[in-house]
Amino acid sequence: MENTTNLAGDPGILAAPQTEPDRQFYFMDLCRDLVSARAMELGRPLTASVQTFGCQMNARDSEKLLGILEQIGFVPREDEEADLVLYNTCTVRDNANQRVYGRLGYVHSLKKKNPEMLIALCGCMMQEETVIEKIQKSYRFVDIIFGTHNIYKLAELLYRRLTGSSMVVDVQKEATAVVETLPVDRKYPYKSGVNIMYGCDNFCSYCIVPYVRGREHSRRPEEIIEEIKRLVDDGVIEVMLLGQNVNSYGRKLEEPISFAELLRRVEAIDGLRRIRFMTSHPKDLSDELIAVMRDSKKICRHLHLPLQSGSSRLLKLMNRHYDKEQYLALVEKIRREIPDISLTTDIIVGFPGETEEDFEDTLDVVRRVRYDSAFTFLYSKRTGTPAAAMENQIPKEVAQARFDRLLALVSQISREMSARDTGRVMEALVEGIDTQHEGLVTGRLGNNIMVHFPGTGKLIGKIVPVRLLESKGFYYMGRMEEE
Ligand code: 5AD
Ligand code: SF4
Repeated sequence: MENTTNLAGDPGILAAPQTEPDRQFYFMDLCRDLVSARAMELGRPLTASVQTFGCQMNARDSEKLLGILEQIGFVPREDEEADLVLYNTCTVRDNANQRVYGRLGYVHSLKKKNPEMLIALCGCMMQEETVIEKIQKSYRFVDIIFGTHNIYKLAELLYRRLTGSSMVVDVQKEATAVVETLPVDRKYPYKSGVNIMYGCDNFCSYCIVPYVRGREHSRRPEEIIEEIKRLVDDGVIEVMLLGQNVNSYGRKLEEPISFAELLRRVEAIDGLRRIRFMTSHPKDLSDELIAVMRDSKKICRHLHLPLQSGSSRLLKLMNRHYDKEQYLALVEKIRREIPDISLTTDIIVGFPGETEEDFEDTLDVVRRVRYDSAFTFLYSKRTGTPAAAMENQIPKEVAQARFDRLLALVSQISREMSARDTGRVMEALVEGIDTQHEGLVTGRLGNNIMVHFPGTGKLIGKIVPVRLLESKGFYYMGRMEEE
């Protein structure tokens, strides 16, 4: 799906280095000249806004995209009244797509006022051919479209758009290169996501991710450790290791290594204080990983363990490779080894053919596991996935009624669970000033729960002991203890 109209004969493009990352640094320089010339004309700097939809992976990609834009000379801006607006999209459920179309309507009205504004789209939604067709037909004002496999090419695509006249579309079906050494603008100075793997090979029958993110591919451990060391040198004390299924990390590497072993090596990095990771597939969660977590001083006592459904029958149809009993046994084993672990999950309601009995099984697992919190989703039909072709799609009202019942149960349990540490002193990483209450700061506990307590901005980025005085349902009010 490569649009080549802008390529012909442009001396800038013809002279570009063929190897990465040199090629992208070259295009960043060319764009920088164009952007600074335009800024001179306007008498003000040009601004750019990166808007993120979806998961932590996209949030991390957006930091990389903003890093490139800043290198080119754009000044970042939160809202969309910018000279360049980039939407990093998600397509895991249809409502994510609908939100992007809604925002495109809004940004089109801004472009009418500022015709030189550039609008770019990237991310998972752009990997779907039907989406590209729709945008090319009905959203002609979009300037640049690229996918999940070539975000590193932003400068090159921007250069093509700035020196050409038509929409630039560059979407690859599979990753051809992974370029990791480009500039990054981290949102938080003290914590960062770190990609340890890309893609997914699990093909859960409802899920579009394997189609839009491509095959699973792990980064080499040395590269990951190097990146984390660099981050720590730059002030980071907490990392979140990111992958669609971190438990299968490293199996296909030339020199295979387990996720648990990677964690051991990350733990050994001096100066790093906290390690998180996301997401764990229950089918691949090893005893070795549980032992490493149990014995670790740095790995947070939190495990996100998507259940999806409590019905063994549906789990089979979902292609999840575990059943209700295996999931419950796994939770029991984890709790036995790490009693203070906080468990969270994802649950889908209204998968094709879901009966009242299937749904009761989901409620049963929720009652037995008692999650600290759970993300609940209405099943969304994704074209091209096996589940989309299944018969017995569940009527919206039935699914919604079940969803409401599940949410009520999950919230009640979550409120009880989040109060369980009241009175204790726990370590909190201070993330910012509390915007709701003057004189307070907000910190995150190892189990991912937030605590608000008196303090100043000087504490931001520090880990401090906090007594949890009162539970407010999903967060605590506390008081800092002497260290
Ligand atoms: N419909 C609803 N929820 C979905 N998820 C993935 N695909 C779908 C879908 N088609 C949910 C799963 C996954 C989370 C990231 O999104 O629960 O764990
Ligand atoms: Fe989707 Fe399943 Fe892969 Fe998660 S593990 S991204 S739900 S296919």
